Amino acid sequence: MKKTIALSKLKPGMKVVGIDKSWLETPFLSHHFVVRSEKDIDKLRESGVRLVTVEIDNPVPETEDSQTIPEAPERGLEELPDEDPGKERNILSLQRETSRLLVRAFQQVRINGFLPTDEIRSHVRETVDFLLHNRHAISLLSDIHENDDETYVHSANTMFMATAFAIRHQMEDAECFRWGLAALLHDVGKTRVPEHILKKPGPLDLLEWEIMHQHPIYGFQILRKNPDPEIHGLAAQVAVEHHERMNGSGYPHHLSLDAVHPVSRSLMVLDIYEALTGHRVYRSRSTPRKVIHYLMNDYSDRVSVPVILEVASMVGIFPVGTFVETEDGEILMIQKYEDGENYRGQMTVLKIFGPGKKILPRPEKRKIPHLDPTTVLRTYDYRSIGLTQEQWEYLMGGTPGIT
Ligand SMILES: [Fe+2]
Ligand SMILES: [Fe+2]
Repeated sequence: MKKTIALSKLKPGMKVVGIDKSWLETPFLSHHFVVRSEKDIDKLRESGVRLVTVEIDNPVPETEDSQTIPEAPERGLEELPDEDPGKERNILSLQRETSRLLVRAFQQVRINGFLPTDEIRSHVRETVDFLLHNRHAISLLSDIHENDDETYVHSANTMFMATAFAIRHQMEDAECFRWGLAALLHDVGKTRVPEHILKKPGPLDLLEWEIMHQHPIYGFQILRKNPDPEIHGLAAQVAVEHHERMNGSGYPHHLSLDAVHPVSRSLMVLDIYEALTGHRVYRSRSTPRKVIHYLMNDYSDRVSVPVILEVASMVGIFPVGTFVETEDGEILMIQKYEDGENYRGQMTVLKIFGPGKKILPRPEKRKIPHLDPTTVLRTYDYRSIGLTQEQWEYLMGGTPGIT
């Protein structure tokens, strides 16, 4: 019979069959072992273990220390809210309102250089409240491309994604607001780029690129003189940093990723994702799957890979390294696809949690023919599952799984 007891009750000779910690957080390769000495108990204590499950031949009397091991992980396993198809219309109408607001706001910047700050703030506020109360609407974000006026729609969509991203990371309300505000205004510098360049139906020439590359600096100049502290602070910084890239390969100041604000580091991925999945004058949109594949394979040396994976999870794509929760409560990590080009078809997964979200003594490797997205309740990145980047890379076979 199995019994869960406090660590203080554990004695040498007892057979342990479970502990209240991930196998990655203890020095024990397996959670099935016989306690050889007090040293083993000390090791468990040093690893932060409080409860152990032991196999006993004769049941011990019930004590107040006896408990059931809590199902791990405690954080990040929210239930998926019920789908409500009616909400799609709401997010689309909010998106249209945002585009219209930006048309007016950017027009004002062109005329007198100032943003209608109050209107912008109340609109971002409304967006944050909407997404907080309709968290499932985040999954519809890739569908909100309806308008041809791309800078406005792009800025509106980027705001939705950045706000959803902040909410997904359980940031405080005020922080979600700042993310949304900074995202909405990140390209305001394009108001100083001539329309014939912005809307050119083809590749830009060198001079045109040079002018286009000024928009982060223009944005900074516009936002810096705004009296609102959140606009002349974070939003101005994000505007000037969102085209910086790893190892200084971006522009305008060739900063490294470590040197830019965390909001800029995430927003640059959302910015690219939105730009590539949206309709643009010079090409048709790409699918979210293709864009995530492109980011993982061709862009991982320029932007943050953990952020790419978080964006992928947010839009329901399952690249290598993603953790998915299935209908029966199992959590699997996608380790490898047979068709690594398309993230589809037969794949190798590591089962981390079994049915009922019970952590397994050790991960189980298995091949599955394909993953039906409708059976995935939620996705997680390694952090929300409680792993460090090193542990995550170890599970993927020593590399982040990116070629
Ligand atoms: Fe930009
Ligand atoms: Fe942008």
